[in-house]
Amino acid sequence: MPSEDGKLPAPAQTWNAERYARHAGYVAEHGAPVVDLLAPMAGERILDLGCGDGRLTVRLLESGADVFGIDASPGQVHAARARGINAKTVDATALNINAEFDAVFSNAVLHWVSDIDTVIGGVFRALRPGGRFVGEMGGQGNVETIIAASTNALRERGIDPAPLNPWYFPDTAAFKRLLAGHGFRIDYLELIPRWTALDTSLSGWMDTFAESYLSVLALADRPAFVAEIEAALASQFRDTEGGWHADYVRLRFKAAKEKGAQ
Ligand code: BEZ
Repeated sequence: MPSEDGKLPAPAQTWNAERYARHAGYVAEHGAPVVDLLAPMAGERILDLGCGDGRLTVRLLESGADVFGIDASPGQVHAARARGINAKTVDATALNINAEFDAVFSNAVLHWVSDIDTVIGGVFRALRPGGRFVGEMGGQGNVETIIAASTNALRERGIDPAPLNPWYFPDTAAFKRLLAGHGFRIDYLELIPRWTALDTSLSGWMDTFAESYLSVLALADRPAFVAEIEAALASQFRDTEGGWHADYVRLRFKAAKEKGAQ
């Protein structure tokens, strides 16, 4: 169904826990500073919004906090449970929790959600007064070189790439407005450009994260498409040892629900 601005939603991204673990283990590794910003404490109730396979959620548990993970992907929730995490399949837009958590944590998820406004409202309600919301997501300019190469390659095939971009990468002003609009006090918010080493290759990255672009191509045509993008970006993204990198820009933030808020 088209959204209010008339845009059709991008084709849905699916998550395969095994594929994610193979190509994207670095996502949890890079989440360590976000856990530090959260500073979880023993006994706190923490919601991990978009816990994925639980690799980073385990770090929250190690603090002695009581952690509950939600994720829209049943496969990822299964993988998180296998790590001993109390996790449930819930879409972030369907969060229906009232003042139960001391903190909500989210890493590398908010850029995927279909309705960010609903999600931020749900997070605010889920927090107890005085609770904090700490997270990181893609920010303005994230993977813009990969997006440009993909959109060029699609246009050359006569495909309009505009409805296929599945991501929301806000700038600092837009995300501040969003948080403040739901009642949050913003304690910290920054865009962080991060040249990111990939675990495998750019084609592994495309298979894992850019399903929306690939989904409009016949299965047999996808390898040539990805090879074309790799060829276009190799001089910028491939190092002398053959390792691949990507032009990540993160938006990291810490916000609070004031003590007097309902
Ligand atoms: C991620 O979910 O980690 C991600 C998605 C799009 C671009 C970069 C990273």
